[in-house]
Amino acid sequence: MPRLLLTGANGFVGKILTPRLQRHGFHVTAVSGTNIADQSTADVQVVCDINDAHSLAAVVRETAPTHVVHLAAVSHVPTSFIQPLQTWQTNVMGSLNLLEAIRTHAPNAFVLFSSSSEVYGGAFQLGEPVNEDTQCLPLNPYAASKVAAESAFREYFRQGLDGVIARPFNHIGAHQSHDFVTASFARQIALIEADKQAPILKVGNLDARRDFLDVQDVCSAYLALLDLTGNTEYPRCLNIASGHSRRIGEMLDALLAQSIVQIDVQLDPARLRPSDIPVAAGNSDALRKATNWQPAVPIEKTLSELLDYWRKKICHEAIIS
Ligand code: GDD
Repeated sequence: MPRLLLTGANGFVGKILTPRLQRHGFHVTAVSGTNIADQSTADVQVVCDINDAHSLAAVVRETAPTHVVHLAAVSHVPTSFIQPLQTWQTNVMGSLNLLEAIRTHAPNAFVLFSSSSEVYGGAFQLGEPVNEDTQCLPLNPYAASKVAAESAFREYFRQGLDGVIARPFNHIGAHQSHDFVTASFARQIALIEADKQAPILKVGNLDARRDFLDVQDVCSAYLALLDLTGNTEYPRCLNIASGHSRRIGEMLDALLAQSIVQIDVQLDPARLRPSDIPVAAGNSDALRKATNWQPAVPIEKTLSELLDYWRKKICHEAIIS
């Protein structure tokens, strides 16, 4: 049975990806920087900060993975402005700690690195959905750190490591932190409906446009990429995108349309960013050609499930408090 080591296993994507990997036939060692997750189904759970090179090397040595999926990162753009050192340290040096551990203890492993569409930054201004040949022009510390980490992966690939860099566009769904836009809006609606927030929904830049995918579709793409192990006939860097951008205001309207309460929308200047990409859309022809992947979940369904998730969560929190 192939053995897969997953970093960031306790995060939004990691929690959803773990059972999908297991159903795909992997024995999963879930590595997280925080506590062991209560409800994780992982075969083995390990608490290890990727910034701790020594402990991480021991985990890789003991696991002897055939596959690695690297999700662990500081992933919130505003946080990366406030804590740039932690962002660079975790996203770049954490990745290098992992790469060195793999080079030393699991040199034949296939490695999937989850980068980000944020790397394109200023290049989105071209207007077209960007492809992998588009120049990277990062506009924030998070994006710049992902470009640097990609560079590290490319160097290890050049030296013979097998693997791929994925550039997922915005992915959303239940369990995502309300630091991110759709979760923030859905949570506020649920709080207002439960009479736990005044009927004023705070927002940032509603004019920005993003290429949204359901998190399950991104997990499907990761599984398809893992199936490329041993195949050298595909690009080493692949977008995961729908190809269409949606206005943040349109996502808000779709969520508000599902609520019967009267809600006012108010701009919260604290939610505006020093720099924000106005329009992001990705071309994922290369991924579709390499794997036949395509998105399967309509975003309307994702948004509806997201709001239900937050309604249940707020209701549950009210019962136990
Ligand atoms: N978070 C947040 N909260 N964003 C808001 C809000 C709000 O109240 N109101 C408007 N926005 C706008 C932001 O300014 C941005 O233009 C857009 O909504 C999306 O913000 P986020 O959900 O925070 O995501 P992101 O685009 O910055 O980054 C996400 O996607 C990347 C992939 O493209 C993150 O998940 C990154 O980790 C990921 O790499």
